Amino acid sequence: MRTLKPNIDAVGAIDWDRRLFDELIPLPNGTSYNAYLVRGSEKTALIDTVDPEQWSDLAANLDRLDVKTIDYVVAQHGEQDHSGSIARVREDYGGGQVVTNPKCKGMLMDLLCLGDDCFTTVDDGQSLSLGDKTLQFIYTPWVHWPETMCTYVPEAKILFSCDFFGSHIASSFLFVDNEAVAYESAKRYYAEIMMPFRQIIKKNIEKLSPLAVDMIAPSHGFVYDRPDFITEAYQNWISDTVKNEVIIPYTSMHGSTRKMVEFFTTALMERGITVRVFDLAQSDLGQIAMAMVDAATIVIGTSTCLVGAHPNAAYAAFVTNALRPKARFASIIGSYGWGSKMVEQLTGMMGNLKVELLDPVVVKGYPKEDDFRALASLADTIQKKHCEAGIGP
Ligand code: FEO
Repeated sequence: MRTLKPNIDAVGAIDWDRRLFDELIPLPNGTSYNAYLVRGSEKTALIDTVDPEQWSDLAANLDRLDVKTIDYVVAQHGEQDHSGSIARVREDYGGGQVVTNPKCKGMLMDLLCLGDDCFTTVDDGQSLSLGDKTLQFIYTPWVHWPETMCTYVPEAKILFSCDFFGSHIASSFLFVDNEAVAYESAKRYYAEIMMPFRQIIKKNIEKLSPLAVDMIAPSHGFVYDRPDFITEAYQNWISDTVKNEVIIPYTSMHGSTRKMVEFFTTALMERGITVRVFDLAQSDLGQIAMAMVDAATIVIGTSTCLVGAHPNAAYAAFVTNALRPKARFASIIGSYGWGSKMVEQLTGMMGNLKVELLDPVVVKGYPKEDDFRALASLADTIQKKHCEAGIGP
């Protein structure tokens, strides 16, 4: 239990040991499920709950504050890492109403089998008085699901933002203690969770901008008592600006593609381009996603496997397509033994990307002189494209 402001406390759980989220996203630093207790002069509200696995931590924190009754459980988001303990809270703390928007209500009825009579629904902008404190609900769709909303307490100038502005990190610090660590965690979280919704995030940030905010309190990771720290980072990540960077996720079965990647990396570096190379057989998906936040160009490197792309490369293409990074250019390099349809296959998998496809370099066997010339030519093209985009050296 940790205090944000008088009668506003963080009562959620720190999950030090979790290493995977959604059976997909690596959590090298654990995570937290932040729930917030807001005690007004007349009513008490709990904003979000915790993953059901961590229910006992939430209950212990509520008991420390000697909470007997919770009048309202605000569900800002239907996903179970925040909503999953709602039924337990209602059961043990007086059966308060679940306050949420109609879309989230439908999800919670589907996901948690809660009955219709549990809910009080609120409109966008609607307020709920707790006495000397007010909860104002602001719909912010697609951060992370379509029903997501934020809650603002004007008397305390705190914005509770659920997944929005969150970070997967377990820390005993409530507020940011090390900005470099907080930035890295928030960027990783943005890359893995929020990047597909970049355009709508712009609208949500604009919608929230008139609020006077002293603190942003997400439901994962640190609370920001200097809100500009995270809003400025987001402005940067969601902007249309790309950097003079090439990301090369690759996989190589017998070394031919690796040789191509090594040559190509050097060629790009010699042209003043920042390169981030990831061997897909052993890389952290979060690191790859983070590199995609800023890069102007993505080049997938792959061996041919059963005439198509190697499954590791197909996975990278699938994830890239889902994350929708703002890259402007893409290409494919790799090797084959007797035949390959990997270019058609991979490009077919990345239809969401608004990129110009630069001529791939696909070689038979180990790369030879002509192949290195083709790779150098691709590096020249990338340098030229970056310069034309105003980001070259
Ligand atoms: Fe932290 Fe979308 O749940």
